[in-house]
Amino acid sequence: MENPFKFGTIVEAEYFTDRVKEVAYIGQFIKSANHLVLISPRRFGKSSVVAKALKESGRKSITLNLQSVTSVPDLSAKLLREFFKVHPLEHIRHQIAHFRIIPTVSTNPVTGSMDVSFQPSASETEMLEDVLSLFEKVHSEKDRLIVVMDEFQEIKDIAPNLDRQMRAIMQEQKHINYILLGSQESMMTDIFENKKSPFYHFGEMMRLQKLPREDFFCYLTERLAKLFPANFEALADDILDYTSCHPYYTQQLAATVWQIGVLQPDTKDVFHAAINHIVTSHSLDYERLWMRLNRTNRWILQRLSAGKSLQTGDYRTSTIYSALKRLQKDGYVIYSDRYEMEDPFYREWILQQN
Ligand SMILES: Nc1ncnc2c1ncn2[C@@H]1O[C@H](COP(=O)(O)OP(=O)(O)O)[C@@H](O)[C@H]1O
Ligand SMILES: [Mg+2]
Repeated sequence: MENPFKFGTIVEAEYFTDRVKEVAYIGQFIKSANHLVLISPRRFGKSSVVAKALKESGRKSITLNLQSVTSVPDLSAKLLREFFKVHPLEHIRHQIAHFRIIPTVSTNPVTGSMDVSFQPSASETEMLEDVLSLFEKVHSEKDRLIVVMDEFQEIKDIAPNLDRQMRAIMQEQKHINYILLGSQESMMTDIFENKKSPFYHFGEMMRLQKLPREDFFCYLTERLAKLFPANFEALADDILDYTSCHPYYTQQLAATVWQIGVLQPDTKDVFHAAINHIVTSHSLDYERLWMRLNRTNRWILQRLSAGKSLQTGDYRTSTIYSALKRLQKDGYVIYSDRYEMEDPFYREWILQQN
């Protein structure tokens, strides 16, 4: 029996649940001439929800994760490479001939995809400008291109002033909808809500929450029932209590429960066996992460893991607050209605160490 749960990649079709309102909203939104900014912690389902809305819209789109971008020439090349996926080179060759800096384009014989590169040059802004103007020229107000940039907060790190240059180019465009995704709340807010930032009020801000419990419960029970007819509802509740409805960790735990149910059907307590399996398989990474943390951070993570208050007088409130911000930025901690450990299995590992 194939595992009915999936984690780690964009999920679609039968692996995708709920987000009905969000998909409709994004779909409606990109019909307007405006841009969208979507923020949530990592692995909440941003890429999946956007992919679904794009698919339903039937429009042409390109997606680029800025985390993989190393420089402005690289950014320009990668944008162009993605553009070739929706507009074959032979159709736009004459436009490329007008670029101030001509890129090298070749077909990768193994994958059949395009390799694109720009030589580093003194006029890097011109490359980016030419690429983005190409998008604008090939599209029209009736047929706008959708450009999705994931982990957009990285723009601050790729090159000095890139945000300013990019904004100046985007300012002039009318044939593109930008959807900018980010998982670092504080950096994203700074980019889009700080009056001094070039992207101040660039687009509508949307925040993605965890999945609603009732929906996720139905999703889990429908699938678990086949393998665990006696206790599928209790299992679903246990899983959701444990992950507090985090999309990724819920699917991960459910997938592991399923796998153990199939491979070791005699296991008495599949739920705890699954948790132990995940914690053990990651313990080396967890230990490595732990070694890198300073004492204050370790103390905070221990308290959060145990569900204990941070207001004990051990540390000054301002120290705790700035450490929490830092831990949140680095992805250890998330804030929804309260601060909590991002990874419930890391939380488990920390509890086991003490
Ligand atoms: N709508 C959904 N229904 C079910 N699972 C989901 C959904 N959205 C996300 N997930 C789970 O979360 C994981 C991470 O989703 P992803 O879209 O990559 O998040 P992000 O882009 O925010 O990091 C997916 O692999 C899947 O396991
Ligand atoms: Mg993503």
